[in-house]
Amino acid sequence: MDMVIKKIALLPGDGIGPEVCRQAVKVLDAVAERFGHRFEFTSHLVGACAIDATGNPLPDETLAACRASDAVLFGAIGDPKYDNDPTAKVRPEQGLLRMRKELGLFANIRPVTAYNALLKHSPLKSDRIEGTDLIIFRELTGGIYFGEKGRTADGVAYDNCTYSRFEIERIAHLAFQSAAGRRQHLTLVDKANVLETSRLWREVVRDIASQYPEVEVDYLFVDNAAMQIITNPKQFDVMLTENMFGDIISDEASVIAGSMGLLPSASVGAEVAVFEPIHGSYPQAKGKGIANPLAAILSAAMLLDHVGLPEEAALVREAVDEALTNQILTPELNATAPYTTEQVGSYVAFWIADSNEQQWNAHNIAVGVSTII
Ligand code: IPM
Ligand code: MG
Repeated sequence: MDMVIKKIALLPGDGIGPEVCRQAVKVLDAVAERFGHRFEFTSHLVGACAIDATGNPLPDETLAACRASDAVLFGAIGDPKYDNDPTAKVRPEQGLLRMRKELGLFANIRPVTAYNALLKHSPLKSDRIEGTDLIIFRELTGGIYFGEKGRTADGVAYDNCTYSRFEIERIAHLAFQSAAGRRQHLTLVDKANVLETSRLWREVVRDIASQYPEVEVDYLFVDNAAMQIITNPKQFDVMLTENMFGDIISDEASVIAGSMGLLPSASVGAEVAVFEPIHGSYPQAKGKGIANPLAAILSAAMLLDHVGLPEEAALVREAVDEALTNQILTPELNATAPYTTEQVGSYVAFWIADSNEQQWNAHNIAVGVSTII
């Protein structure tokens, strides 16, 4: 393949965001090296660090840089000093939410895989989760997150939830297309026994379904789905849901993978797409070298797919599998002989640089005892 040049905006954010992003960049650099591509990175502020520096959780400069790029790699945002202050006027999360809205990122795609090498790390029984391979399509720019919110004169708080037919249709089409290319099964998760918005979701999905006759559709109330996702996750292929339900069930589904630190995501829409781990900024772990970089690295793999480099993406996933199989893992997944954030990233990067090299060498290089470098 000819040399591909891509501009990637990095938004490392807060807490462990910068350290996991650094590993994803290292991996992308290894991909560039191996395939003769060029990835041009620029770094920009978002979240609490942006508030500290500029007073704005999403500075105009950051937004402009996203728009001028082929893809965005996002770390995490959030800081305890805001979490514990309900009166704070400006919050790091506003940066993320505004970015989603401004860039029209209406679909958040969160794949969930039960890795064989990690089955024992899930608190769930192995036989229940083995073979799980599902993907959540979460609506990202509507619903209760973005409805009118406030307090009435007598102190009552409200958050409105609204959805238009158009908002549902555009993500439903993406979910149906994904299901058509997978196991042809789509589950709409809603609360149609109570919510009017959910009833509209059902109507729209039912209407669209006729365009995808090969896809079997079923409908599940979110409370039931929350139970089924951990008792029998293998029944799911593509799950489609609105913003807040998707936020909740995707954290829940991460238990299947064995760690929050393993789940990547892609947010796509009209313009540039954003790739980010589903985990938060984990401030307690900041700077300790214990954060799992694999979710960020797998997000980089989704980025490669998105910019039309599927072979490169597959190699990143292969390298991650190799790290999992050989237990080159951060402490939450390998308590007895843990590796640091940096070492896990290096292992994956070196494996990509030369996957023919013996695994032993990649390992030695990663932990810094190699005589090769
Ligand atoms: C996520 C996060 C965000 C969300 C927060 C940080 C606003 O939990 O991406 O899942 O609720 O969407
Ligand atoms: Mg969440």
